[in-house]
Amino acid sequence: MNKKTILVTGGAGFIGSHVVRRLVTRYPDYTIVNLDKLTYAGNLENISDIENKPNYKFVKGDIVDADFIQELFSREKLTDVIHLAAESHVDRSISNPLEFIRTNILGTVNLLNAAKFSWNCRLGTESSDTESPRRNLFYHISTDEVYGSLGPSGLFTENSPYDPHSPYSASKASSDHLVRAYADTFGLPAVISNCSNNYGPFQFPEKLIPLALNNIRQNKPIPIYGKGENIRDWLFVEDHTLAIDLIFHKGKRSETYNIGGHNEWKNIDLILLLCGIMDRHLKRTAGTSEKLITYVTDRSGHDLRYAIDSSKIDRELGWKPSVKFEEGLEKTVRWYLDNESWLSNITTGNYKMYYEKQYANR
Ligand code: NAD
Ligand code: DAU
Repeated sequence: MNKKTILVTGGAGFIGSHVVRRLVTRYPDYTIVNLDKLTYAGNLENISDIENKPNYKFVKGDIVDADFIQELFSREKLTDVIHLAAESHVDRSISNPLEFIRTNILGTVNLLNAAKFSWNCRLGTESSDTESPRRNLFYHISTDEVYGSLGPSGLFTENSPYDPHSPYSASKASSDHLVRAYADTFGLPAVISNCSNNYGPFQFPEKLIPLALNNIRQNKPIPIYGKGENIRDWLFVEDHTLAIDLIFHKGKRSETYNIGGHNEWKNIDLILLLCGIMDRHLKRTAGTSEKLITYVTDRSGHDLRYAIDSSKIDRELGWKPSVKFEEGLEKTVRWYLDNESWLSNITTGNYKMYYEKQYANR
């Protein structure tokens, strides 16, 4: 197996932590450098189980700092990038768009510039020849939200036009365009995937499923935006992680792959299902948790429906979602109930102390 030094950005976040764990444990010949700013969403407890592995290194830093990023590329002799670091929550992008522009757009450009410079990318050279074996790869992790909103029917394909509506999705769309521009203009070896809604262990309790689960646990209201009729296509995070591993190793450069769960749920139906599972786990009388459902003012510009056609990654790389929704939701509920200290460390803010406690003297 080739020796590689892979920069994973955002590896202390939800999906990034699953990606780091998989790469560190499955590929001992790779060195994984996890770069994360540790914003409110970054939590080193998410990857405490692998922090002492010899092929793993954590670096605290901001992708918006161009000099630092260039210096990191030179110092670590990075061969590849899997870029997940982002501001990821739509509601926060409505209240503070600028932070999304900085991290998701400027931060991505800084990484692209450093990769282009370090890997000596120029059109017409061997590095830009799509037929020669790939020495480097810039893998950009993106979202289905770049395609906008669907009506009651139809699916997003890789050829769907971009039509983002929120500052979050507009910033991700912009970063996708920049990655393609660097591939086309400078011959940067790059690949992009656009995925639907993930759920599973270690998701920050601001997103629908862990927020509802946490509120049910504490007998607090479950806020449902609008009438709860918006539809999302849910995918268990480990299925996404597996797809990322496959695309990283087998994906064709300059290609885009859509990843989805073939698993569409109206928000209200999903919450009713979750309430039933929680009643069972918490030994409450059936119907208790759903009384917590509270309809609140809708999200501004709320996209009605997302649904992904993932036939390309199935056909070309043999990937399909493997975890059924009821099974994934059961696993997720079990994990959150078994790891109440993970949740309470977030609520109290103690999770922010982890870096100082574990890394300050390294
Ligand atoms: P997350 O919010 O849980 O994690 C983001 C991580 O990035 C955090 O650890 C944070 O500290 C780090 N980060 C933020 N700004 C940074 C900066 N300036 N420099 C360095 N690190 C920084 O996000 P997530 O849900 O795990 O999403 C990861 C990626 O996957 C994002 O790019 C997101 O757009 C994409 N995505 C997410 C989903 C989903 O359902 N969660 C679906 C499709 C695509
Ligand atoms: O589709 C992929 C995207 O999925 C990712 O790119 C984003 O990073 C990720 O956050 C997610 O975006 P959503 O906006 O779809 O996820 P969220 O969990 O915030 O909301 C899911 C649905 O639930 C959405 O229709 C809004 C609704 N909702 C959300 C919250 C937080 C509620 O009704 N109540 C809530 O409290």
